[in-house]
Amino acid sequence: MVDESSPFFLIPRMNRVEYRDHWEQVFQTKDTRQVSWYQEVPAQSLTLIERFCTPGASIIEVGGGDSRLPDELLLRGYENITVLDISNTALEVTRNRLGERSNLVHWIVSNVLDLKVDRTFDVWHDRAVFHFLNTVEDQEVYKDRLVNHLTIDGMAIIGGFSANDGPFKCSGLEVARHDRSSMTDLFSPEFEIVESFEAVHTTPSGGSQNFQWTILRFGGLGDE
Ligand SMILES: C[S@@+](CC[C@H](N)C(=O)[O-])C[C@H]1O[C@@H](n2cnc3c(N)ncnc32)[C@H](O)[C@@H]1O
Repeated sequence: MVDESSPFFLIPRMNRVEYRDHWEQVFQTKDTRQVSWYQEVPAQSLTLIERFCTPGASIIEVGGGDSRLPDELLLRGYENITVLDISNTALEVTRNRLGERSNLVHWIVSNVLDLKVDRTFDVWHDRAVFHFLNTVEDQEVYKDRLVNHLTIDGMAIIGGFSANDGPFKCSGLEVARHDRSSMTDLFSPEFEIVESFEAVHTTPSGGSQNFQWTILRFGGLGDE
């Protein structure tokens, strides 16, 4: 039943094309050093990736935008990096910044929900992308994409707004906020939660955003 008292009742849902166009517009018109998710150095992500994977591992950065994560991973000797984003412009910005080093990275322009490549990755990293999936249907599709593209024993590192005091919106879009329990409900039994914690991100304008980070290990699909 529709809850007409919900503050989101009047916001029509975007279709896939409108959703992609939203992100194209963000990267074509905004100074992304000023957007709320900007980080000069993605320190939390690097700490987790360095803890859970060696430089030989293959990493997919999901919804990488123009984050500095690939730059920093290359500096640290990681050489099997793929960056995916729904916005071609975002990836172009990153490629231009990296210059020649961009040839060392694989690039995929796609909605993560449509990801279909003929390979798997050892590590799946997602900062502030999964939280835009605010229907159970889309969350299940995301899980399905993850299952299809992660090696057995591979790790998924997912950070998004926390159900405990995290913002309700990101880039003007309503998000689904999570905690350990909601992540367990969605990702078990195929995934085991290895670690789960909250961390505050300070935005360029000095605000605080409470993130929930979840590290999951893929155990496979059992007897199927
Ligand atoms: C909030 S930004 C975070 C960017 C980056 N992860 C970071 O931490 O700086 C969300 C990014 O995910 C991308 N994105 C959003 N939804 C997506 C989807 N369904 N599939 C692929 N990329 C998506 C956007 O284009 C944008 O680059």
